[in-house]
Amino acid sequence: MTDLQPDATENGPGRTTGGAPGVAAMLALLPEEVVAGLTLEEKASLTSGSSFWFTQGVSRAGIPEVLLTDGPHGVRKQRGGADHVGLADSVPATCFPPAVALGSTFDPDLLERVGVALGEEAAAEGVGVLLGPGINIKRSPLCGRNFEYLSEDPFVSGVLGAALVRGLQSQGVGASLKHFAANNQEADRMRVSADVDERPLREIYLRGFQRVVTEAEPWTLMCSYNKINGTYASQNRWLLTDVLRGEWGFTGLVMSDWGAVDDRVAGVAAGLDLEMPSSEGRTDAEVVAAVRDGSLAEAALDLAATRVVDLVQKALRRDGHDSGGSHRVEGAGYDVDAHHALAREVAARSVVLLENDGILPLAPTTRVAVIGAFAAQPRYQGAGSSLINPTRLDTALDGMREHAAEGTVTYAAGFVLGDTDPAAAAAQTGEELVREAVAAAAASDVAVLFLGLPAELESEGFDRADIELPAEQVALLGAVADANPRVVVVLSNGGVVRLGEVADRSAAVVEGWLLGQAGGTAVADVLYGAVNPSGRLAETIPHRLQDSPAYLDFPGERGHVRYGEGLFVGYRWYDARDLDVAHPFGHGLSYTTFEHSGLSVTPDAEGLAVSVTVTNTGERDGREVVQVYTGLASSDVARPPRELKAFGSVALAAGESRVVELRVSRADLACWDIRAGAWVVEGGSYAVEVGASSRDIRGSETVAVVGDEVAMPLTLESSLDEVMADPEAAQLVREGLSRFLDDPDMVKLIGSAPVGRILGFPGTGVVPAEVGARLERLNAERGLT
Ligand code: BGC
Repeated sequence: MTDLQPDATENGPGRTTGGAPGVAAMLALLPEEVVAGLTLEEKASLTSGSSFWFTQGVSRAGIPEVLLTDGPHGVRKQRGGADHVGLADSVPATCFPPAVALGSTFDPDLLERVGVALGEEAAAEGVGVLLGPGINIKRSPLCGRNFEYLSEDPFVSGVLGAALVRGLQSQGVGASLKHFAANNQEADRMRVSADVDERPLREIYLRGFQRVVTEAEPWTLMCSYNKINGTYASQNRWLLTDVLRGEWGFTGLVMSDWGAVDDRVAGVAAGLDLEMPSSEGRTDAEVVAAVRDGSLAEAALDLAATRVVDLVQKALRRDGHDSGGSHRVEGAGYDVDAHHALAREVAARSVVLLENDGILPLAPTTRVAVIGAFAAQPRYQGAGSSLINPTRLDTALDGMREHAAEGTVTYAAGFVLGDTDPAAAAAQTGEELVREAVAAAAASDVAVLFLGLPAELESEGFDRADIELPAEQVALLGAVADANPRVVVVLSNGGVVRLGEVADRSAAVVEGWLLGQAGGTAVADVLYGAVNPSGRLAETIPHRLQDSPAYLDFPGERGHVRYGEGLFVGYRWYDARDLDVAHPFGHGLSYTTFEHSGLSVTPDAEGLAVSVTVTNTGERDGREVVQVYTGLASSDVARPPRELKAFGSVALAAGESRVVELRVSRADLACWDIRAGAWVVEGGSYAVEVGASSRDIRGSETVAVVGDEVAMPLTLESSLDEVMADPEAAQLVREGLSRFLDDPDMVKLIGSAPVGRILGFPGTGVVPAEVGARLERLNAERGLT
C-alpha cells in the first residue's frame, strides 16, 4: 500500500490500495470480521505476496499492503525494481553487528537496545516486518550462514533472540523469527531433508524457537526451505500447527521463506499463512480451485487470511492510526549518529579476546605496524539477503589512529582482497606486499595483523569447504612473526576458523567476527583498552574440523542429512567425547580478572535459585559473564555432561564484589520424553556448575531435584524389568513367571524381553492375552490408556 510505501513508483505500479477511510473502517473490525466480508478469491490473494517485498492488499475492503524487508542486523529496504537479486541496492541503514557477534555479548539487555534501534529505523522506512532474527543452531562450523546465527546453544539463541524481538516489536515493527526449523546448512537448503530424532529436534533445534515464541511473541515466523524428517517445513502440519500453535500457543503469522513453497494448498492446510514472494496469482488460483473442489477446507484459508489481516492491523496500529489517516511515518527519521555509536558499543562488546600474554592493551605510545588489508577494507557483514548498505563505515586503521599517539601507527596491506581496485592490486606483487609488511613489523614495537576470511569464502547460499584461513595469510603471519614476535592477530570471520599457526605465532588473538559498520573503531577501542573486552564464545573453536560433531554427517547426500550426533551439538559433543578444543564455549578473556565465590544453589518449585559472589580482582573495570551449567550423571537417558541453563553479564569496577543471583527454571531442566511426548523433569542429584566458561568451572554444587511423575501404561510389550518395577503389575505376572523369577541370572538374561513373549513360552501355565487384559484393567484404574 502507498501509505506504508514511501515511494510507490519505486516499487512498481498497482500497489496503491485503499484510501484512508476504507482502512479506518477495516481497522475498526476484528480480523475475522474483515475476512468474513471477502470473496474466496480475495482471501486466497491475501495469503500470498504482491511482489518481492509486499503482502497483497484488498482495496475494496480497505486492506493495504504491508512491507516486509530483511533483516536481520539492519534494514535492507530495496530501491528500484524491488526484486530479490539487487542485494546491494538498498537504502542506507545502520549495519549493526551480525548475529555471530551479538551472540558473543551474552547480554540480552544490550540486544534489546539493538532491537529498539532496528525498530526505529524500520519504522522510519515504513517497514511492517523486519525479517529476523535468525536463531538456527550452528550445527557445523561449515554452515555458510553461521554469521547470521547466534549460537551453537539453544538457551543462548533463545534468550538473545527473545531480547531482539522484544526490542524490535516495542517500536511497533514485527519480527520474523527464522528459519523455522532445522535449517542448519546452505547446501541443498531448498530440498534437503533434515533427518533429526525427536529429542535433538525438541531439545536443540526447536528449543530456542519455543523460548522466543513463548517469551517474546514475535508477530511472525518464517518457515525454512528444507524438509524436516521428509516433509517440507512450509507444509509441515506437525511443525506449523501442532507444535507451534497447539503446544506453544503461537497466535501470529507464519510466512514462507522466499520461494520455500512447494505445494501451496498443502501449505495452507498445514498452517502456512503467507507465501512470499508473489507467485503472480498462480498459487492463489490453486488455493481457490482446491477450496472449490473440496480438497482444502475453506476454514483453513479463512484462518490464514485472518492472520494476514491481523498482521496488517498490527503494522498500521504502530502509528496510532486506529481511526484512519496516514500510516506513513512521515519524515520520522532516526538518529544516525546515535545508532552508529550504539553499533560501536555493541561491536566492542562482541569482541572476544581469545589469548593474551599481556601484550594487550596497547599503550598509545607503542609503535604499531598495522598489517592486513582488513584493517583498511573491513569485512563487517556476510553476503546474501542480510547485506546492509551502511550509513557509514569505520576502519580499524582510522580507529587505531584515534587512540594512538601521533606517528606511532604505520600500515601495510600484506595481501590483496577481492574487492581491491584491480589497478592498485596489480601494482604490487604478493611478495612485495609481504616484504613491506615484514619491514613495517621489524620497525615497530608490535605488529597488529588483521587476518580473516575473504567475503567470497562465506555467504548465504553455500557452505564453506573447510575452516582454514587463506594460506597466503598464514604465510604472511609466519614472515611477520619471524621479523617481530610481538604479534597481535585480529580475526574477521563469520564462522570459526582453525587457529593452529595463529595461536602458535602470536602473543594475543582477538576474535573480531563480523562486527558491523562500526566494527573497525570498536576493535581499536578494545586493542587500546578504552573498552575492556567481555565477549564470550557462543560457539566452540575446535582444533580441527575433524573433531566437530557433524563432521561425518554434513551436509548429507542424496537429499538427506542425518543429524547423527543427536543431542551432542557444540560443547555438548566436545565435553561428552572429552575432546580438547582450541577454545571452549563461553570462553573470553578480559584485561582484568574475576573471582567467583560463595556459590549457593537452592531448589524450589520453580527450579533452582543460584547465587554467587563475583569479584573483580584486577585493576581495571570490566565485565564478567557468569555461566550456570547443569548435568545429571545418573540420568536414564542420554545427556551431555553439562548444559547451559542460565547466564548473566555483570559490570564490575576494579575491586568491586557483587552477589549475582540467577535462576534456572524448572522448564529448562526438563528433557523431551519420547514415551510421554512431553517435557519431563527427571528426578535426581543434579550437578550445578558455575563458571567463566564451559571449561573454566569455578564452583559446583549437587542438589536433589524432585522429578515429574511419568506414569506409562504397562502392557505385554513392556519389558520384564519394567513390569517387575511396579509392585501391582508384578503381582499380575508373577504366577506364570515364577520359575524364571527365582533365578537371578535368568532375570538378568531376560529382563529386557517383552513380558508377553516370556509368558508365551511353553510351561508358563498362563494365557498371555489374559494377563494382558489384567494389565489393561490396571491401566484403566490408574487412568492410563
Ligand atoms: C533467506 C531469508 C530472507 C529472504 C528474503 C531468503 O533467501 O533465506 O533469510 O529473509 O530470502 O530476502
